[in-house]
Amino acid sequence: MIRIDSVTKRYPDGTVAVDRLSLDIPDRAITVLVGPSGCGKTTTLRMINRMVEPTEGGILLDGTDIRQQPVNTLRRSMGYVIQNAGLFQHRTILDNIATVPRLLGTPKKEARVRAAELMERVGLDAALAKRYPYQLSGGQQQRVGVARALAADPPVLLMDEPFSAVDPVVRKGLQDELLRIQDELGKTIVFVTHDIDEAIKLGTMVAVLRTGGRLAQFAPPADLLSAPADAFVEDFLGADRGIRRLSFFPSAGLELQTAPIVGIDADADQLASRADAPYLLVTDLDGRPLGWSEPDRLTAGAIGRDQLLDHGRPFVPSADSLRTALDGAVLSPTGWAVAVDGEGRAVGVVSQQVIGEAIRAAHSRAADDAEVKAVR
Ligand SMILES: Nc1ncnc2c1ncn2[C@@H]1O[C@H](COP(=O)(O)OP(=O)(O)O)[C@@H](O)[C@H]1O
Ligand SMILES: [Mg+2]
Repeated sequence: MIRIDSVTKRYPDGTVAVDRLSLDIPDRAITVLVGPSGCGKTTTLRMINRMVEPTEGGILLDGTDIRQQPVNTLRRSMGYVIQNAGLFQHRTILDNIATVPRLLGTPKKEARVRAAELMERVGLDAALAKRYPYQLSGGQQQRVGVARALAADPPVLLMDEPFSAVDPVVRKGLQDELLRIQDELGKTIVFVTHDIDEAIKLGTMVAVLRTGGRLAQFAPPADLLSAPADAFVEDFLGADRGIRRLSFFPSAGLELQTAPIVGIDADADQLASRADAPYLLVTDLDGRPLGWSEPDRLTAGAIGRDQLLDHGRPFVPSADSLRTALDGAVLSPTGWAVAVDGEGRAVGVVSQQVIGEAIRAAHSRAADDAEVKAVR
């Protein structure tokens, strides 16, 4: 564990960048430092690898003050990734990634084999190995930066706004990739961002900092959304925090109805037996949803796809949250969401009203949990 123990950083010009900050950063999880520009995120991160020394307080790594070990040993145990990747422009991608292992004495061939493995791990095509950084897109360069930081297999990764300079679509890809890599490798990651959505998506724990380098709140993302510590945190979280909190509730418990589902080849008996449903979901012959219709608009044996209403975006109960289910229902002209399995076959439908009840139940369970935690 990394323990930041009442750390203050005052720069020589008198600026207090970090003010009595204490944080226990858990092992093998992603801890995000988030806050507005100038609130001391970078300073905090750089104090962890001693690029900046605290004015007061100390930082402990597994119980030992980080000043007790040579700074080079410390930095070897901490990969560092920055915005715009900071790659060596005159070295190929493969050599960029192999740099640190080479410095540590790994034979050239072995370092290159390892670099090639890492390229694959971070989702880079092997064909890019011999290119130079300027020949890569911004997103690809960030992947190289991550691969390079992982090359010496450090237990800790420090990441300072690594995805901030790329466009939103590429950023989402990089975030997904980081979560996947973290699932496999289980590093202790300290991740700095000014983007609260990124913090909530990536963080196991999120530390919200305010200007002046003071900690506003340190909590798991779901707790931030349900119980912001003060008006600053609430404001920073933004307006739709209620909706966003639904991302942390699974949709798996929703009670699904199967009766309103009919195949496009439905016969007269099948349609008649479902005549009292407000809407029927029509599927293709493989069971994939095609669209909604009122029952009395359907003619057995002659259901046309063009007469169906859009079924919106389906959700997968084992994987998606209540937010995705609600989104599906809100987007659907019928107010019903469609649940599908991993192959996209309809497994049930659920109304906005039932989703609303599940949301209320989830809220009260979460409130109970919070009460239990508070009592303990
Ligand atoms: N080397 C420095 N000398 C003086 N002030 C600095 C220095 N580095 C950062 N600061 C100031 O410290 C504060 C925190 O900076 P920083 O840690 O970079 O914030 P963030 O990464 O959250 O944007 C800012 O007010 C910044 O201007
Ligand atoms: Mg910064």
